[in-house]
Amino acid sequence: MRAWMMGQTYRAALSAGEVMAGSGLAEVVESRDPAFAPGDLVYAETGWQRLAVLPANRLQKVAPMAPLTHLLSVYGVAGLTAYLGLKECGRPKVGETVVVSAAAGAVGGLVGQIAKLWGCRTVGLAGGPAKCALLTSELGFDAAVDYKAYAGDMPGLYQALQEATGGGADVYFDNVGGEILDAVLFGMKPFGRVALCGAVSVYDGGVPYGVRGLGGMVSKRIAMRGFIVSDFYDQREAALAELKGWVESGQIKVREDVMEGLENLPAALIGLLAGDNVGKRLVRIA
Ligand SMILES: NC(=O)c1ccc[n+]([C@@H]2O[C@H](COP(=O)([O-])OP(=O)(O)OC[C@H]3O[C@@H](n4cnc5c(N)ncnc54)[C@H](OP(=O)(O)O)[C@@H]3O)[C@@H](O)[C@H]2O)c1
Repeated sequence: MRAWMMGQTYRAALSAGEVMAGSGLAEVVESRDPAFAPGDLVYAETGWQRLAVLPANRLQKVAPMAPLTHLLSVYGVAGLTAYLGLKECGRPKVGETVVVSAAAGAVGGLVGQIAKLWGCRTVGLAGGPAKCALLTSELGFDAAVDYKAYAGDMPGLYQALQEATGGGADVYFDNVGGEILDAVLFGMKPFGRVALCGAVSVYDGGVPYGVRGLGGMVSKRIAMRGFIVSDFYDQREAALAELKGWVESGQIKVREDVMEGLENLPAALIGLLAGDNVGKRLVRIA
């Protein structure tokens, strides 16, 4: 199988001989399983390598489409995570306020757009004025908060969020954890829901962050739920059909950030954690 394009997987350390984990689109070069023929396009956990040997039951055949990159962004894990995580863990209702962090990233940008299509007010957290401007001008967010402007100033971030949300969030889709999670938790509305999707702020090592805002969750009856997108794969086809309708009708804008070359995969991952990307970061390797 010849790997063609990859998303990234976060991984702290590798043992000798191990391949860095990562999923991607690949072309079948040779197969002893009659279900696959040379030239077939597949999605798989290929690892960071040009050629991969995998058992057939770990390949998912996909139909070519244009652009192919959408199979790894809006029609891949990012799109499904946004749609299914928001629906099942955020459970947004029309008129509610949805806050999402890493809002200019792959998952977050879609969460905001989907929440808007479901009749919610949307507030995105992102790093820097350029990303915040993109959220409101291009991705249709109602408001954006530049969390970097409040580094080390949790009360300031809390206040900015209260203003942007008009009094707190009903739903928080958390991609980052850490201090941002705390700042949003302090301002959650009663009976709010927090979807714990990821914790980018702690992926890069360092001291684990101790969340302080849990006390208020009792009196406010906040529900907090972690999830892995595959928990909801019984709804995968329905979710993909709805995403496809929105993309084709222009109701959802898909941002992709494509880099070139296998040798650039480490830089792509390091840059992702540093916030260099807008939308889904991918690396084309063939
Ligand atoms: N639960 C699941 O099944 C599932 C599936 C897929 C992905 N995920 C998770 O979803 C989250 C988003 O993934 P993605 O692929 O869409 O990545 P992404 O949002 O495209 O990229 C990560 C973004 O995180 C932001 N960031 C980095 N360090 C930060 C920090 N210390 N504080 C706040 N923001 C920071 C950066 O944007 P800024 O410039 O705004 O800082 C960066 O662009 C990740 O946590 C990932 O693990 C979960």
